[in-house]
Amino acid sequence: MSAKIIDGKAVSKAVRDKIKDQVDMRLSQGLRAPGLAVILIGDDPASSVYVNNKKRACEEVGFVSKSWHWPSSTTQTELLDLIRQLNDDSSIDGILVQLPLPEHIDAETVIENIHPDKDVDGFHPYNIGRLTVRMPTLRPCTPYGCMTLLNHYGLSAKGKHAVIVGASNIVGRPMSLELLLAGATTTVCHRFTADLKTHVAMADILVVAVGKPGFIPADWLKPGCIVIDVGINRLEDGSLTGDVDKAAMDVAAHVTPVPGGVGPMTIATLLENTLIACERHQL
Ligand code: GUN
Repeated sequence: MSAKIIDGKAVSKAVRDKIKDQVDMRLSQGLRAPGLAVILIGDDPASSVYVNNKKRACEEVGFVSKSWHWPSSTTQTELLDLIRQLNDDSSIDGILVQLPLPEHIDAETVIENIHPDKDVDGFHPYNIGRLTVRMPTLRPCTPYGCMTLLNHYGLSAKGKHAVIVGASNIVGRPMSLELLLAGATTTVCHRFTADLKTHVAMADILVVAVGKPGFIPADWLKPGCIVIDVGINRLEDGSLTGDVDKAAMDVAAHVTPVPGGVGPMTIATLLENTLIACERHQL
């Protein structure tokens, strides 16, 4: 059996094209373009790449992106002052602080200081709370991007057993909330989970976000399952690979490739969130 590829590049392009049409419509009605503030602290090379991709994607759909790249010596107070200014700036609809932050800055405090209506990452406890009680507005980008992929391919989560490996605030935890909202029975596995293999073998939908190349062997998978591989790991030869063994293609029914699966969906959702924030901003 060879799994069907879930093409995140194509789905992301379709989402971005739709957003561009909506921005063009706004402009033709005399409304302003959505504005996104992107903040990067320090010189983490992967973060720089992600931030540049986000800024480019904004420009391609006609958003205004403003960016701040400050040194790793930036204090928490300086960053909070900037966030306060941006919260009060009516030309800014979304504020994105790229993670991870330097160790002397507390990410939770920073996230809590972004106004929930401008929290286009969907990380603020208010927005996570809304997702928890089935009233989502701004939803964490990577998990919602995964749901967009499933929906695009007509892969319903209702009644399925979804197993999520990794319990981070950015992916694993909100992913479990999205899948629960979509009617799946959800299991969240993490570093203290005993007998991971048994849980993985029960997954109709398996989501893996641990950041370890080939962490899940293909022979653990339930035949015919859906594999959503969130891992993006760079190997010594420079190539990118996911958290699930590539031989998953011979066991699963649907697989997200790495690269070109989940990755492009994070940015597509960020743009969707920024447009939603902008439209709500002008009510
Ligand atoms: N670092 C890794 N993923 C993300 C993300 O989705 N948003 C932000 N702000 N930082 C990240």
